[in-house]
Amino acid sequence: MNKNWWKESVVYQIYPGSFYDSNGDGIGDLKGIIEKLDYLKDLGIDVIWLSPVYHSPNDDNGYDISHYQKIMDEFGSMEDWDELLHEIHHRGMKLVMDLVVNHTSDEHEWFEEARKSKDNPYRDYYIWRSGKNGKEPNNWRSSFGGSAWQYDENTDEYYLHLFSKKQPDLNWENPKLREEIYRMMRWWLDKGIDGFRMDVINLISKVPGLPDGPQKAGKTYASGSKFYRNGPRIHEFLQEMNKEVLSQYDIMTVGEMPGVDVEEAKKYTDYRRNELQMVFTFEHMGLDAGKDGKWDLKPLALPDLKENLSKWQTGLHGTGWNSLYWNNHDQPRIVSRFGNDQKYRVESAKMLATCLHMLQGTPYIYQGEEIGMTNIHFDAIEDYRDIETRNIYHEKVIEGNEDHHSVMESIYAKSRDNTRTPFQWNDQLAAGFTTGEPWIKVNPNYEEVNAEKAVNDENSIYHYYRKLIQLRKQHPIIVYGDYQLILPDHDQIFAYIRTYEKEKLLVITNFSEKPVAFQLPENEEFTPKELLIINYEKELEYNLRNLTLKPYEARVYLGI
Ligand code: NOJ
Repeated sequence: MNKNWWKESVVYQIYPGSFYDSNGDGIGDLKGIIEKLDYLKDLGIDVIWLSPVYHSPNDDNGYDISHYQKIMDEFGSMEDWDELLHEIHHRGMKLVMDLVVNHTSDEHEWFEEARKSKDNPYRDYYIWRSGKNGKEPNNWRSSFGGSAWQYDENTDEYYLHLFSKKQPDLNWENPKLREEIYRMMRWWLDKGIDGFRMDVINLISKVPGLPDGPQKAGKTYASGSKFYRNGPRIHEFLQEMNKEVLSQYDIMTVGEMPGVDVEEAKKYTDYRRNELQMVFTFEHMGLDAGKDGKWDLKPLALPDLKENLSKWQTGLHGTGWNSLYWNNHDQPRIVSRFGNDQKYRVESAKMLATCLHMLQGTPYIYQGEEIGMTNIHFDAIEDYRDIETRNIYHEKVIEGNEDHHSVMESIYAKSRDNTRTPFQWNDQLAAGFTTGEPWIKVNPNYEEVNAEKAVNDENSIYHYYRKLIQLRKQHPIIVYGDYQLILPDHDQIFAYIRTYEKEKLLVITNFSEKPVAFQLPENEEFTPKELLIINYEKELEYNLRNLTLKPYEARVYLGI
């Protein structure tokens, strides 16, 4: 297997508005990030992925970009950004920027031109259609609710927006648009950045004709996803992007891809195909959702998670590469989701980290995960800021007459604002995030859960993450070893063996609050040499044929 720096790296995602506010306006900013870089360096981070900091009217917190080469006023200036890059590199870390090119903001100059007239040179940068029988051109639903089409009175046509109506989709069929995007990408790469995380990049190629999605009885709109996920020209576009841009730099690339499966991911990440290095799958994030999608809550069945992650581990081994994540700015906090954020917050956060970081792939840590930050419960929907959350509440409760409390239960479990509350730096006012009024409320548990406390406590989740990162640097088996699941049907234990050259690694995790007996299967040969990490007091228990695991216990043995 080829060795690459991005396979050996640990990535930390910063959601800039919620990280650290340096000027007291209640919004995190670039200077704030610079002030906290030593914290990330001490944690052992190699690469920072920065969620969008570009000029934006903020309909979707920066994922609606109005100028690709300018910085959002709230976050600072281009000089601040230059300084940030310099300070990151100075500390031996790298910077990956978010690339949002499935859509722009409707306040982007291209769109402002495009909407002026049907023959405007920028018209074809976007996707315009006439209505059908006085209705939208097709029945697609937007990811944020309602139709995916917005009527434009001026030209009597509709434009497509898979997300909010302030995020019109770009028309990748247009070679001029593609060239313009590539030019912009080169501009950032020439400034010295180290890669891109590509927002919903597998949605950029739509099936010509934009056919109707399968209509369900009683619903106004339908999912059109099979006509725009992994669309007909997607691999061609990415290969072109790779040839024109990516291949000319030593960088890291990861594509966010809703609806990607292992077979498709192999095509995207196979190093011989020259597309991307990694994708973000959503499959494991959908295992606690019922048939009606993310708001339809369903408890996780551990065997499902094991089966899914194992399929990705073995599926991409040797050809592509996995990205490993539990959290990002769109997902609830993992300790509240698959762990226990009350009695076993510390134990379960460490267990989940162990389970993920010992897999093959590049681990991503989302800000606050390393101190075990938890979901939030705001009583009032008005305290939520996220457009998706507010829209779903409106659709279900205001328009749909569903019960407020049961909708709020779904929002507590799944709202994107769960991970967007301010980073908890200390036990002072506003968790030390700002001296002003934070743009979104702070999680009230900041006196207990905060970075200062975690750094000062050698048994904290933070120090455990540090250790996991160090182990990855010390043991090539963690990066390059192959993977084998054991006890696939066990509903409490997730355990696997990694093998590399003459070494083996045995990872044992208890996903439940009940003690459980672990027995290494008779047919598995494993002689433990060293207990690398454990989330309880170190007990040198080497009898792996009969071991009792404590609640949420995790242990990793190196052996042969
Ligand atoms: C995925 C991003 O992660 C999410 O935050 C955003 O709302 C959509 N793409 C649209 O850009």
